Amino acid sequence: MKNDKSKEIWNRSLNVFPGGVNSPVRAYNSVGGGPISVREGRGAYITDEDNNSFLDFVNSWGPLILGHCDKDVTAAIVDQASRGVSFGAVTRYECELAELITQNIKHIEQIRFVSSGTEAVMSALRLARGYTGRNKIIKFEGCYHGHSDSLLVKAGSGLLTFSGDISESSSPGVPDALSRETLVLPLDDEAAVKNCFEKFGDGIAAVIIEPLPANSGLLKQRPEFIQFLRDITKKYKSLLIMDEVISGFRLGFSGFCGKYSIEPDLVTYGKIIGGGLPVGAFAGKREIMKNLSPQGKIYQAGTLSGNPLAMVAGKAALGKLLHGGVYEKLDRLSGYLVKKFHDEVAPVLAGKKYYMELVSENSVFWLNITSVAGPAIRKVTNIWEKAPEVYSGIFWQLLENGVHIAPSAYEVGFISNPMEEGDIDHFILSLASAIKNS
Ligand SMILES: Cc1ncc(COP(=O)(O)O)c(C=O)c1O
Repeated sequence: MKNDKSKEIWNRSLNVFPGGVNSPVRAYNSVGGGPISVREGRGAYITDEDNNSFLDFVNSWGPLILGHCDKDVTAAIVDQASRGVSFGAVTRYECELAELITQNIKHIEQIRFVSSGTEAVMSALRLARGYTGRNKIIKFEGCYHGHSDSLLVKAGSGLLTFSGDISESSSPGVPDALSRETLVLPLDDEAAVKNCFEKFGDGIAAVIIEPLPANSGLLKQRPEFIQFLRDITKKYKSLLIMDEVISGFRLGFSGFCGKYSIEPDLVTYGKIIGGGLPVGAFAGKREIMKNLSPQGKIYQAGTLSGNPLAMVAGKAALGKLLHGGVYEKLDRLSGYLVKKFHDEVAPVLAGKKYYMELVSENSVFWLNITSVAGPAIRKVTNIWEKAPEVYSGIFWQLLENGVHIAPSAYEVGFISNPMEEGDIDHFILSLASAIKNS
């Protein structure tokens, strides 16, 4: 594969950006080597600066459910750009996108737009704390909620005993005082949640979870566990925040909450909601949302919030998702992928020193590399420590074969609407061949 231009851009990037990137996972640290430099995307494919084309399962890490350069999204952006890109004022564009969402997702009465998933979650936490008058937050090990201080916290090994310092920051720069307000629990463990509520119940503002944890592989939870969180938060008058930055508008228009009929107090969005432009949102019942400034006292604001370009892009994308038969097609492709994996990849795993399982839910999937075949894993601690090593070999062979998957064993893949069965065939053939050679 020719890569002179990508190499040259990477070297220049290393000079001007810390680690060469503007978001860590774009660097190929876990697979080794320098990244391709992407020049453009169209439909299911991206092309790099060296003119190599790749079938793209990264899709900008989830937003591009309609693939690259969807014609309706592009037309909406171009049209709006000719009328002004930002006003910092009330517009019908933000109102129309909000109505599209509130009228079609029954657990949402009011919404506020922000510019990223991180900002959405950070703001939802502040709202939960202000609304309940409590400070502590429960989050789960392996769930990523963006990089705001309260959530960059992981469990210390003594967490479950709740003695001493139970939370430890994942990053220098996060004050201990804040880490201590974040209680980190294992996924899939009702007893740990129950213990925590028994100990700290009247101090817990909210439980936040990715209901489909998709940032440490795809750790599909039992719906009963999520329902348990709904019930226990109600009992202790804490809020349940569903972080649907990935699963929102992905598992169906109303995301995980709609699919499994579990109603959150607050929900956070990002990625798909902006049609590929930088948008996040947090939303919920009027009773809670009305506490936000200027109606209430809890402050939250943004110069570019509700940005018109982003709002029209979001409206074009979500409008298509509501009416276009897109979810049916994506589910069909997802079923096809599962079947092909079973028929053509599983057999080549015989005799290998590792096993691979395809974990999927609707159009999200994960290649789970394990030491042996076993039951579905639901906790981050059950991910095989050698998975990244095996994955990096497979990653590079796929890239050589024109298939772009995430440069990390812990990241999921996304099927997009412009893909066809032939694209899935190509992926499966390339994957089977990569496994044979590794
Ligand atoms: C579940 C979840 N929440 C929050 C975020 C943060 O979103 P952003 O990267 O837009 O700040 C992400 C990003 O991947 C995410 O997956």
